[in-house]
Order: sequence, then C-alpha cells, then structure tokens
Amino acid sequence: MLEINSIIAFLAKYLMRRITFHRVIAAGLLLIAGLSCHAPRKDQHKDMTDHKWWKEAVVYQIYPRSFMDSNGDGIGDLKGIISKLDYIKSLGVNVVWLNPIYSSPNDDNGYDVSDYRNVMKDFGNMADFNAMLKGMHERGIKLVMDLVVNHSSDEHEWFKQSRSSRTNPYRDYYHWWNADRGKPAPRYSLFDVNHDAWMYDSTTNAYYLHYFSRKQPDLNWENPKLRQEIFDMMKFWADKGIDGFRLDAFQFAAKDTTFPVFPQGYEKEFTKYYAMQPGLHEYLKEMNNQVLSKYDVMSVAEGAGNSFQDAHDLVDANRDELNMAYAFEGVDIAKPEGYSVLHFKEVFSKWDSVFAKKGWLSIFLANHDQARLVSRFGNDDPKFREVSSKMLTTFIMTMRGTPYYYNGDELGMTNAGFKDINDYRDKATLNEYQHQMNIGGNMAEFMRQTACSCRDNGRTPFQWNSNANAGFTTGAPWIKVNSNYTTINEAVQDKEPNSPLNYFRKIVKLRKENAVLVYGKYTLLDKSNPDVYAYTRELDGKKFLILLNFRSDAKAANIGLDLSKAKILIDNYTEPSTDGKLKPYEAVVYQLQ
Ligand code: GLC
Ligand code: CA
Repeated sequence: MLEINSIIAFLAKYLMRRITFHRVIAAGLLLIAGLSCHAPRKDQHKDMTDHKWWKEAVVYQIYPRSFMDSNGDGIGDLKGIISKLDYIKSLGVNVVWLNPIYSSPNDDNGYDVSDYRNVMKDFGNMADFNAMLKGMHERGIKLVMDLVVNHSSDEHEWFKQSRSSRTNPYRDYYHWWNADRGKPAPRYSLFDVNHDAWMYDSTTNAYYLHYFSRKQPDLNWENPKLRQEIFDMMKFWADKGIDGFRLDAFQFAAKDTTFPVFPQGYEKEFTKYYAMQPGLHEYLKEMNNQVLSKYDVMSVAEGAGNSFQDAHDLVDANRDELNMAYAFEGVDIAKPEGYSVLHFKEVFSKWDSVFAKKGWLSIFLANHDQARLVSRFGNDDPKFREVSSKMLTTFIMTMRGTPYYYNGDELGMTNAGFKDINDYRDKATLNEYQHQMNIGGNMAEFMRQTACSCRDNGRTPFQWNSNANAGFTTGAPWIKVNSNYTTINEAVQDKEPNSPLNYFRKIVKLRKENAVLVYGKYTLLDKSNPDVYAYTRELDGKKFLILLNFRSDAKAANIGLDLSKAKILIDNYTEPSTDGKLKPYEAVVYQLQ
C-alpha cells in the first residue's frame, strides 16, 4: 500500500543513510578481507597498543534542553547542568558530549546554528558556558561539543548576506542554483515537508540546497574561505579549553557541485550519493592539520560512510583525520517489531573484528535521535524494565570501543509514546506529519509508528525526583514529562543500592579499573545461541567472560567453560542463578583469569 510505504519510508528516511550500510557491508567486508592479505604495514598495530584518554573514556551525552532547567522557563540550560555537575561526577563518567548550545532559532533544537561563537539565549550566556567548563574540568570531566557545520541556520549572518544578492561576498558560502538555468536535478531532503532539498528564493531568483530543513541551508565546503571560518571557530572553542568535537552530519559535507542527475530511486539509498563524496577526506585532513592536531582534543564524526573501508579511512591513526568511528548499523538493529539477537551479535562482532587491529569504534545503542534504550532494545514492562536496562548497560560497558551513554538511560527512562501530534516537538516528525496529511497517508499507522520510534521519546525531561515535572522545571516544560516520573527518577534510584543508576555507577567503575574491558581482545562464544550473547575479553593474561540473556525467560549459555572457579565481578541480580541458566535478562561479568 502506498501510504504504508510512505510511512515506512519516513521512519526509515531519517535513518536511511544508516540503512544503506546493510547493502554495502558485504562489499566492505571484501575490501577489508582484501586488505588483510597484504603484508602488514609497519604501523598496523599502532592504534591498538596506543593508549589514549579518549579510548579509555566513558562518554555521557547530555541533551541540554531536557536535562535541568535553572530559571523556570521550562527549558533546560547551562546553569541547570552546572547544578548537576556533582551528579555527573558521581556517575564516574569522564567525558560529556553536549548537544549544540550555540545561538539558534531552534528549528531543529540547536542543529541550526545562527552564531557559532555564542550561546543560545535559552541556554544562558558565555559566562555560564565558561563556568560550566571550569566546573567540569575541576571534576575531571572533559567536554566534547557538537560541531554542526554541514549546514548553518538560514538566520546565520552568512546566509543573510549570501541570499541578499548574487554577487555578495558570502554568496559562495552556500550552494545556489540560479533559476535561469532551469530547475536543478532533484535532491532528497530528510526533513522537508516535500522532501525537496532545493528551496526557491525569489530575492535572487535562485534555489539553495538544504539536506535537512529549509532553515538549515548546506554550507559550501568547496569554498576555502568558508573552511577557514570554520577552522577559526573551532580554534575559538579549543582555545577555551574544550576537549573534543562531534562532527554532526559531516559525512555529507562534500558535494559534487555540478549537481548531476542521480538515478531513479536514488532517494531510497541516498547515503550512497551523499556520504563520503570526493573532497571529504581533504577537508578532514585540513581540519586535522589546522585544528585537531594542535590541541589535545578527541574527534568523532556522526556516521561512518558506506563501508568498513570508509569507516577506516576516517579514523586510521596514520591518516591524520579523526579519532573514532560512530557507525549506525548497531543502533539501527532494533525495529518496532523487535529484532534478532543473532543479528545483534553478528553486527557487533563484525564491527569489532574489522577494527581489531586498526582504528577505533564508538559503542552505543541510543542517542538524542532515537527512542529510549530500554524501550527499543530491552523490555520496558515494569517487571523487566530495570533488569533489562542493566543488561543493556552491561553490554555497552563491556565492549571494545568507547562507550557513549545517553542521559536518562542510567535510570532506565522509557518511551513516552505520545498519542497526540500536539505533544510532539521534533520538526522532522511534524513536517512528516504534514507530508502524510498532504498525500493522504494512513495517519493512524503514522501515529502508531511515531509513538514507538520518534526521537522525542528520548528527549522528554530528565526525571530527577517525584516533584511536579519530575523536578526538571518549576515552569511549564517545553515537552511533556513522561508520566512515569513518580516511580522512575534519580532521587529514588540514588537511595536504592540495586537500582539501574547504582548499577551504572558500579559498571562504569569496573570498566575504568580494568583495561581489559577497554583494550582487551573480544571473542564471541556460543555464536548460534539465539537468546544469549556470550563473549570474552582478554588482555595481558586477564580474561573476562560476559554473559547476557536477551530474553524474558531463563536461558542457558553453551560456552564450554568451567565457571566453578570463576569470580563474579558484577551481576544485575542480587542472587545469581545457580542452576546453570541465566535468569530473565540476566547479565554477569566473570573474571576467568
Ligand atoms: C544529526 C543530528 C540530528 C540533527 C541532524 C541535522 O543527525 O544528530 O539531531 O537533526 O544532524 O543537523
Ligand atoms: Ca531555562
């Protein structure tokens, strides 16, 4: 049915660049397999043995709009974060990734920047930023900032200039197509109501390009002046002492500016056409040379291209581009109808093996663009919510790669599943709702899918306590608080020794105290077990075994190891099972040697 197809297309569209991975993985594998046949390069082992703070880090992602409101306007802010720095420190995490806090008209919650050197009024001012950074550093926490430079806001001064005349010096900061040449070849937009990435502007009788919303015009990276502006701006923040950059949507930054016609149906796999285009590596090398290499900062790009080779090319230490890959294949596994544990194991094992000798990965199952971790990958039924959330936390904290953990997941916060479109705030969702209305889509189905998959599920306010609005604000929150805040909140969990929150603290500590969990070799056991994920991690004579039951009933693992002398380091049940089976969603970490 057409409308169902369009809905699925929408839900997939935002994620489509990620889905493309599935189609190109085989090619990627072949490439990598091919590589490993060559004689090893001298520096091939360099990445793995090279200890780095960003490999040993546990990254905690803060969505500032929803974390803590200090002044009762219903919007989280920097002073709110400052008031919670001791909480963040208590988690044991040592890096914070902060979603964009720059000046912005908020078409896409800060991913539409109107001034890169200033702080969004909703969030405070530069003095607040400086105080926040100082407060983090005093507590041994580093700060990674979002860098949104595939596009700016249409309210950025550059764009105002650029659109004002065809001869304005800022004209080439963006991509324009003069309408005298006719209509440009179609380009797909992720967020536009019509999915059309070309917006006509009558001032100069020309179209501008926007891969995201109309208020997010794409910057022209071919222009050396633009690049210099961005590098100078990065230095401005690095000079303030920030510790890293997360490059938003950057794999799309390079474009073939002749704008050739793409084949029919290209939009179904547009990442293939948008990501990693010629020029991108040169831009990254220049960025590395001018900025990244001059500071002790970490760098991670959102997305990792179209193949393992792309991912490697972004992060291999000897290429001097970025530090670590952030690939979407894992986070995309969970679908509203569920997922296969075998597939989950296969994907994570594959990415680990491909990066076993070179490069470095991020490990994550959630972020601000996803619905909630426990609702997507675990079981948010009250009976299993806590234990399944702790099981997923165990996975994230025991894999090789740098863990990225999204705020609120340490409490096992769940999807809000709003039923009314008026409760949603996400522009992509609201635009798609409009699109579906325009084309006569199946709105009931659209709302059902939105309730489980919309990224607003992950953006409801942090649940601090059982006071009004979960203690997040004294005013009216910008987005509704999840109604389960009276039972799921930080104050309650802080006091409860076995809460998801305290479990998170324990396992972060375990990771930080055991280099084997960071650098140790990963080996998958009991590969064909459809319910249990079992693997070992080994380093310098130390060997850990991790057993994770992904099911709501007891399951056995077939690992062929004698565990009678093994030491249990952590278990998400107070009483581990004794009958050889794992309890529902049980997670255990053993030390074998
Ligand atoms: C990235 C961000 C997302 C944003 C988009 C456009 O995917 O993670 O939140 O909407 O880029 O900037
Ligand atoms: Ca506020």
